[in-house]
Amino acid sequence: MKHMLTISKLTKHFSIQERTLIALQDIDLSVTEGEFITIIGPSGCGKSTLLRCIAGFEPPTTGFVQVEGQEVSRPGIDRMMVFQGLDQLFPWLTALENVAFALRVTRTARGTAKSRALARDYINLVGLRGYEDFYPHQLSGGMKQRVAIARALSVQPKILLMDEPFGSLDAFTRKALQEELTSIWQTTKVTVLFVTHNIEEAIVQGDRIIAMSPQPGRILSVIDNPILRPRTPDSTEFAGIWDALHRLLGIQKGPAGGVLRPPQKTAPFEEIETPHLVAT
Ligand SMILES: Nc1ncnc2c1ncn2[C@@H]1O[C@H](COP(=O)(O)OP(=O)(O)OP(=O)(O)O)[C@@H](O)[C@H]1O
Ligand SMILES: [Mg+2]
Repeated sequence: MKHMLTISKLTKHFSIQERTLIALQDIDLSVTEGEFITIIGPSGCGKSTLLRCIAGFEPPTTGFVQVEGQEVSRPGIDRMMVFQGLDQLFPWLTALENVAFALRVTRTARGTAKSRALARDYINLVGLRGYEDFYPHQLSGGMKQRVAIARALSVQPKILLMDEPFGSLDAFTRKALQEELTSIWQTTKVTVLFVTHNIEEAIVQGDRIIAMSPQPGRILSVIDNPILRPRTPDSTEFAGIWDALHRLLGIQKGPAGGVLRPPQKTAPFEEIETPHLVAT
């Protein structure tokens, strides 16, 4: 398998009013082409910052990110991001136009006819045939996320960075989109890094699960997930990973689908306390 992503000794500091906040510390990670990686950890541990460093939106303070051996120094269409918010589409463009616009500005497809034809393929890929001409306000939350995924995939990135993409959706829609994403990933073979607060989602989706410490974010453990898809919480292997993640993240066990609650109280600098985590 081809080597896709290398993160080496990555540290990220933010300077705020002459103080230094250590968001990420000594992150080392190697990802091969076509892997599906999930990243889980408490709120504020630097998950989004890590994705932003990979995307090229933030430069690392020390260390580096490489994609296929090339150091990342700026954003590029080889790394596309999908966010949690349901407002990431252009509201004045239809579903089809949102995708076609990305294809034109990135010059993935030249000309209106070609970009619209290719956009239609990606709208179909995410199961939205028939909704091409709907504006974002006419789509459900799940549909908007599907369009965002179609738009990100349409430029054929090497890596899809997903920052809690289903975090704003209800449980039923989330489940449907998880299954859909698995099938899209199997079709496109894109490498995925997927951030979630949801332990069940981390296990259902990830072939490797990265558990992160509270701030400053470090990798506590990388758990291999050998369970065959489709993964359901009723197997003993699932329960084993479930237990391991609870132990690592220091949370009490809750029902399947437990969500890591944000810390009740945090101090961002040296006096930081260990965030309090509970499973719901
Ligand atoms: N641009 C910035 N300037 C200053 N501090 C920042 C900036 N971006 C992030 N941080 C800080 O870095 C830390 C990590 O933030 P980040 O958003 O990466 O956490 P997260 O793990 O994604 O949290 P959540 O699960 O709540 O989304 C936080 O303390 C945050 O305040
Ligand atoms: Mg985040």
